Amino acid sequence: MSKFTSLSLRGLCFLWICTICPSNAAAKEHRKRTGDHPSVEKDYSRYVELPGAERIGSDQCLSCHAEESKTFRRTVHSQEAVECESCHGPGSLHVKSENNYTKIVKFSAASSDAANGVCLTCHSTTAALQNWSAGSHQGHDVRCVNCHRVHTKEAKLDSRREQNEACIRCHRKQAAEGNLPYHHPIREAKMSCADCHDPHGGTASNNLRADNLNELCFQCHAEFQGPFTYQHVPVSESCLKCHTSHGSMHRNLLQVSEPMLCLQCHPGHHNGSGVPILNRCTNCHSSIHGSDVPSATGGSVFIDKP
Ligand code: HEC
Ligand code: HEC
Ligand code: HEC
Ligand code: HEC
Ligand code: HEC
Ligand code: HEC
Ligand code: HEC
Ligand code: HEC
Ligand code: HEC
Ligand code: HEC
Repeated sequence: MSKFTSLSLRGLCFLWICTICPSNAAAKEHRKRTGDHPSVEKDYSRYVELPGAERIGSDQCLSCHAEESKTFRRTVHSQEAVECESCHGPGSLHVKSENNYTKIVKFSAASSDAANGVCLTCHSTTAALQNWSAGSHQGHDVRCVNCHRVHTKEAKLDSRREQNEACIRCHRKQAAEGNLPYHHPIREAKMSCADCHDPHGGTASNNLRADNLNELCFQCHAEFQGPFTYQHVPVSESCLKCHTSHGSMHRNLLQVSEPMLCLQCHPGHHNGSGVPILNRCTNCHSSIHGSDVPSATGGSVFIDKP
């Protein structure tokens, strides 16, 4: 009997060393590589703790969960030596609890805070996740696993198409806007929602990947940044005075088509015989985003002719 006890104690020590350490090592290694600061780390470990349970090792899970173990082997987490129990909690009680296989972290039954908390035991220090708690998704019970599938190898959402599919599952309105005749090429997977929005949150409004709206647009449309000698006032204020962000019925993603767009703010003018000029205003005012060319009367009317 005493032999048995000491054996199982030694067994426990062995299990402790073999199963707890590798996951701690993975978490530490992870922090090292992402250049993170453990000092600002919030402690999420309670989300993977199960009172009284001990680790038994991933091999044990395999015998009953062959399918999950097989698909898991191809994932980044598996390659990074993250164990089943790093996410599902220690399994000893789960296995012992004859015909009552609770006592394990089951994601579909966990609250979104608890489910995300598991991931954040390691990822609270990942650079990309620093704004998670300030984000709109966090505040609306969106889960990491709504976008990331961790039991298949697509965890990272590598392609733009995969990223967009994840977003439009919930954001039907923006998906519909993206199907209008003129749109940012999201549907074509030449860009992704995540090019403009940080899915993990952020301090900018709408979780935009820039401090203000025009700066976002300039990241890809730098030719309109200027500085121009003569700025067109609404352009400096916000590109969205005239454009939509996702899609539009009108050419060039305009809010309203020309000449109505311009007539909202300008009276327009007449030709020599008093007939109103209702062509596309930009046929003549072609440098509508700003110009360095002065007009005869001072200022600029945004007509750049050599
Ligand atoms: C002796 C067999 C056995 C072992 C070993 C075992 N499990 Fe289970 N597990 C089960 C059974 C049976 C269920 C209940 C399945 C069901 O309700 O459909 C279950 C349920 C689960 C669930 C919840 C899934 C659900 O649909 O309810 C998770 C998560 C889980 N196990 C993870 C693990 C992990 C991680 C390990 C290793 C630490 C492990 N299991 C070891 C048999 C086992
Ligand atoms: C990186 C964290 C993580 C690791 C590591 C992990 N899982 Fe899971 N597992 C999850 C999540 C999250 C789900 C919920 C399904 C989903 O949304 O993808 C899940 C689902 C399951 C389920 C189905 C029950 C359910 O809740 O839907 C079982 C069984 C399971 N995992 C077993 C395992 C086994 C066995 C291993 C090790 C071979 C393992 N898991 C490793 C996170 C993990
Ligand atoms: C025990 C620590 C640990 C836990 C818990 C954990 N991860 Fe990870 N995760 C890692 C490590 C280590 C990597 C690889 C290094 C890296 O890319 O940051 C990684 C990578 C990732 C990646 C990038 C995959 C890639 O292809 O590069 C995603 C996405 C991810 N994890 C999501 C999750 C989600 C979602 C959960 C919760 C269900 C979770 N992780 C739980 C440690 C963990
Ligand atoms: C709304 C969808 C969405 C949610 C929710 C989400 N992610 Fe992501 N995640 C993405 C997308 C898209 C990418 C890849 C592009 C990028 O980094 O913006 C990504 C990338 C990652 C990466 C890789 C980062 C890198 O630098 O390579 C990790 C790790 C990760 N997510 C973990 C998490 C964790 C942990 C959670 C929950 C706390 C979470 N994600 C919630 C969409 C999401
Ligand atoms: C599981 C559903 C779900 C998924 C998947 C999802 N979102 Fe969201 N998202 C929400 C909810 C809920 C809100 C908050 C309510 C709202 O504004 O619609 C939100 C809000 C937002 C906001 C508004 C932020 C603000 O400040 O008002 C943006 C931007 C956003 N999501 C972008 C994305 C992107 C990009 C993706 C894909 C990488 C994505 N979402 C995937 C559910 C989701
Ligand atoms: C070219 C950059 C860009 C892309 C790509 C983009 N958005 Fe936006 N999105 C914006 C801007 C700018 C705003 C804020 C101004 C506004 O209301 O249009 C916004 C606003 C939002 C909002 C807040 C509600 C609303 O419509 O005002 C959500 C949700 C959103 N976007 C989701 C998405 C989703 C989902 C995708 C991918 C299908 C996507 N965005 C692609 C720039 C972009
Ligand atoms: C991540 C890069 C990126 C960002 C950020 C971006 N755009 Fe674009 N934009 C594109 C691409 C790519 C196209 C398509 C160009 C093409 O088809 O030749 C485009 C096209 C356009 C068009 C022309 C559409 C048409 O019908 O021809 C307008 C107008 C436009 N963007 C305005 C904006 C505004 C306003 C913003 C800021 C809210 C913005 N863009 C932010 C990449 C971006
Ligand atoms: C006063 C209204 C107005 C504002 C504000 C405005 N635009 Fe435009 N934009 C237009 C009009 C009109 C067109 C179509 C020009 C044409 O037909 O020649 C256009 C065309 C474009 C195009 C596509 C054509 C091209 O030359 O590539 C892009 C990209 C664009 N704008 C980006 C922006 C960006 C970025 C901002 C903010 C810095 C912005 N616009 C602000 C009116 C505006
Ligand atoms: C949101 C309102 C707004 C819209 C829309 C707008 N503008 Fe302007 N525009 C202004 C303001 C404000 C000024 C500066 C007025 C001033 O200095 O007297 C200005 C200046 C001008 C000037 C120079 C006027 C002068 O007296 O020097 C021209 C030309 C002009 N806009 C043409 C256009 C055209 C063409 C369009 C349509 C593509 C357009 N604007 C759309 C607000 C707007
Ligand atoms: C056929 C070319 C042409 C078209 C089309 C045109 N403009 Fe002009 N616009 C001019 C010229 C040339 C001037 C300079 C007149 C001057 O300096 O006396 C001018 C001047 C202006 C001015 C400066 C103030 C003023 O009234 O002199 C504004 C504002 C303006 N146009 C707005 C518009 C709007 C709005 C439209 C579309 C409804 C439009 N223009 C269409 C050629 C055109």
